[in-house]
Amino acid sequence: MESNIRSYKGIAPKIGNSTYIDSSAVVIGDITIGDDVGVWPLVAMRGDVNHIVIGNRTNVQDGTVLHVTHKNKANPDGYPLIIGNDVTIGHKCMLHGCTLGDRILVGMGAIIMDGAIVQDDVLIGAGTLVPPNKLLESGFLYVGNPMKKARPLKPEEQAFLLKSADNYVNMKNDYLGL
Ligand SMILES: CC(C)(COP(=O)(O)OP(=O)(O)OC[C@H]1O[C@@H](n2cnc3c(N)ncnc32)[C@H](O)[C@@H]1OP(=O)(O)O)[C@@H](O)C(=O)NCCC(=O)NCCS
Repeated sequence: MESNIRSYKGIAPKIGNSTYIDSSAVVIGDITIGDDVGVWPLVAMRGDVNHIVIGNRTNVQDGTVLHVTHKNKANPDGYPLIIGNDVTIGHKCMLHGCTLGDRILVGMGAIIMDGAIVQDDVLIGAGTLVPPNKLLESGFLYVGNPMKKARPLKPEEQAFLLKSADNYVNMKNDYLGL
């Protein structure tokens, strides 16, 4: 039977220690996943026309799609997808060719498009659309379609960014029986 974690053009995903990948998630090609990551049911990530990097202690929740944009003359690097440490990516998000820092929560159903950069410590509300090449500044809440900078994060929201990642590390440990 074909594995749900598979090579593309001879490049196999690299997966860190104590990382949980649900058997219904699909991980293909040039993808580097850190330690203590949780990849939940029905996630699709495809590192085919560019690469994907996911940091440590990040979680990618159910039904999320991660993809990238190819390299070409006008844009020699294309758009890889880079996700930092302690990031929570909610259910059914679409992250395409963007760059995320550390301690970010991407609300359920959010869409983040090519070239967008999300700095550390940002909360993105459920259903938010982040258009291409936007910069989301550290310490703020963004919501809406298209996204708007809503307000600075409250201290408890800031603290929750790391707490959320912790919760998901604990949950994936339960699933792994650790
Ligand atoms: C945005 C969010 C952080 C709440 O922020 P808040 O400032 O406390 O929002 P409030 O509940 O006080 O609502 C303030 C206004 O924003 C609106 N609002 C709330 N969430 C919104 C969202 N995601 N997008 C757009 N508007 C939103 C409310 O309707 C309200 O509008 P009103 O003043 O016209 O009635 C929260 O709703 C959210 O989206 N969290 C993400 C949760 C998630 O997806 N987690 C991952 C899964 S585990």
